[in-house]
Amino acid sequence: MLWAYELSVWLHVLAACAWVGGMVFLVVVLVPVVKRGDAALAAALIEGSGRRFRTLGWVCLGTLLATGTLNMHFRGIHFGDFFDGSFAQNPVARPLALKLLLFAAVLALSAVHDFLVGPRATAAWRRAPSSPEARAGRRQASLFGRVNGVLALLIVLLAVFVARGGYPS
Ligand code: HEM
Repeated sequence: MLWAYELSVWLHVLAACAWVGGMVFLVVVLVPVVKRGDAALAAALIEGSGRRFRTLGWVCLGTLLATGTLNMHFRGIHFGDFFDGSFAQNPVARPLALKLLLFAAVLALSAVHDFLVGPRATAAWRRAPSSPEARAGRRQASLFGRVNGVLALLIVLLAVFVARGGYPS
């Protein structure tokens, strides 16, 4: 069964690369470059790439949840352990519990950003690029995106601790 465990970790790491890498590209490369250009073109580009990355992002988050659960299973951590107290005895319990908590926060922030704040901001931006509504909407959308980015980096750090048996002593 070792090959199934390693395949699950491989898919998990690939999904993490695509999701975190995609966010970094959007924030560090695409947005700053298009903002220097024509406002209408910038709004269309951000909206188009945002919609496309939204699909990839949710496929990644789904893959991370499925393979993460498998990874836990192969590490002998089962759903029931969270309810009979045995999970707390596991050396990776604390970093993994914090990782799952941050993951839940990322899911909630991503849902609000991807299906509410983001589409509202790009619609206002396309309607009237320099309107107060467009500026406020873009500020809100980039705040959600940046908080998610920071949480993503923290999750990867916690993942490194989990893969190495817990917090460094
Ligand atoms: C945004 C979400 C997530 C990201 C970016 C992420 C990232 C990672 C990375 C990069 C690793 C490999 C670490 C290394 O080998 O040094 C890892 C391992 C792991 N992840 Fe995640 N993960 C996420 C969500 C989850 C979830 C939701 C679960 C549980 C349901 C989970 C459970 C695990 C486990 C158990 C390992 C250890 C794998 C092993 O045994 O080597 N992860 N994660």
